Amino acid sequence: MPEQIGKRDSFASKFGVIAAAAGSAVGLGNIWRFPYITGENGGGAFILIYLFFVVVIGIPAMMAELIIGHRAKRNAIGSFRVLKPNSPWVIVGYMGVLTGFLILAFYSTIAGWTLHYTYLSIIDAFSNKTPEQLSNIFEKFHTSALLPVFWQVIFMIFTAGIVIAGVSKGIERYTKILMPLLFVILIILDLRAVTLPGAKEGLNFLFKPDFSKVTSVTILEALGQAFFSLSLGMGVLITYGSYIEKDNKLINVASEVALFDTLVAIMAGIAIFPAVFAFHFTPNAGPGLVFKTLPAIFQQMPAGYIFAILFFLLLFVAALTSSISLLEVVVAAMTEELKMNRKNATLIGSITITILGIFATLSFGKLSGFLIFKKTIFDLLDFVSSNILLPLGGLFIVLFVGWVMKKDDVLDELSNKRKYGVPYFGTYMFLVRYVVPVAIAFIFLYSVGIIAK
Ligand code: PHE
Repeated sequence: MPEQIGKRDSFASKFGVIAAAAGSAVGLGNIWRFPYITGENGGGAFILIYLFFVVVIGIPAMMAELIIGHRAKRNAIGSFRVLKPNSPWVIVGYMGVLTGFLILAFYSTIAGWTLHYTYLSIIDAFSNKTPEQLSNIFEKFHTSALLPVFWQVIFMIFTAGIVIAGVSKGIERYTKILMPLLFVILIILDLRAVTLPGAKEGLNFLFKPDFSKVTSVTILEALGQAFFSLSLGMGVLITYGSYIEKDNKLINVASEVALFDTLVAIMAGIAIFPAVFAFHFTPNAGPGLVFKTLPAIFQQMPAGYIFAILFFLLLFVAALTSSISLLEVVVAAMTEELKMNRKNATLIGSITITILGIFATLSFGKLSGFLIFKKTIFDLLDFVSSNILLPLGGLFIVLFVGWVMKKDDVLDELSNKRKYGVPYFGTYMFLVRYVVPVAIAFIFLYSVGIIAK
């Protein structure tokens, strides 16, 4: 019997489980990262590869994390310790916590931008500006020294404030209302975007695959984006899975969250690319894409003032529900493994993350010349965590479920202790044992040569 720990928090409702997991998955990855990575990797062909990875690798890996956490009822580190005591597998947990730390450092940079843009929309800073002026506003803001750091710190205070309060009350209640609202606003933005003059070119870019643009790096980027967007490979879903006490079917949680996450990403693309082409921006504008193009759309729509505020506010909320999950991985590990109280763990965790995060923020301005492996601090944090650490973590997580856990235990988890049938169990085991690990390993090896150049 594993050692006893104090009473753990848990989600209060079945829908709350989905909302919290979707809250983690849907975030800047969908609305900020997906469109610009798609833009840099040639559009439609990238999306096809992405979709393929979500189904074949993402959903099985997501189930694997939920299985581990739900079985062990522990944080990302403790889960491996409980399920396979005295083995090196616990390193996978440590790696996950480290990855969460690195991701939140650069994630909070962009989340801070969303706060500044909420503020700019409230003071009506976009009206009567040309697309070029809007682009300049962004350039000036994100390269300056103080303002982005100020917003980043504010964002981290929000994140820490909610995490200190615990899992069930805050996160669950807010995500249940705000996720559907975000969805409705995206639909309205999509309708405006597709009716812009010249929208067709943008939609073509998004949906007409041009495979000549696909390189081995594209494939690694697509895999990294799938892991990043689904919050996979670092223990978010191990941690959240450990808070599930209701009769949720883990297969349904994984597939519903993956479906919703993918839908939001595609819808973000539909909102953005028509505007990119209509207003003569370039699709490969990088991290600034959303911040330059969307204000230009808002100007062209009735009640654009209101929609701008709503959109950036919701983007902030989407970022918040994701950053909470990132910090929760770190905090859950510190409280259970180091027996720290929640408040101290949250403070220590968020302060150290913020300090690293400030360097990421400054790497767009003052530190832009400071390069490691030819990348700025921000790019390095993003690239290493999304494209290397997450897929690597995911690889070990599926191997753990496929080869280390007992098959009967895995079946117990998927069938809610044999209450429901699991029709494709054999297929699932085949996927986590062979297909997913081989696919991840292959993509790595295939890309390594190119990365090294
Ligand atoms: N999935 C989140 C997003 O798309 C980011 C994230 C990555 C959150 C990894 C948790 C873990 O914005």
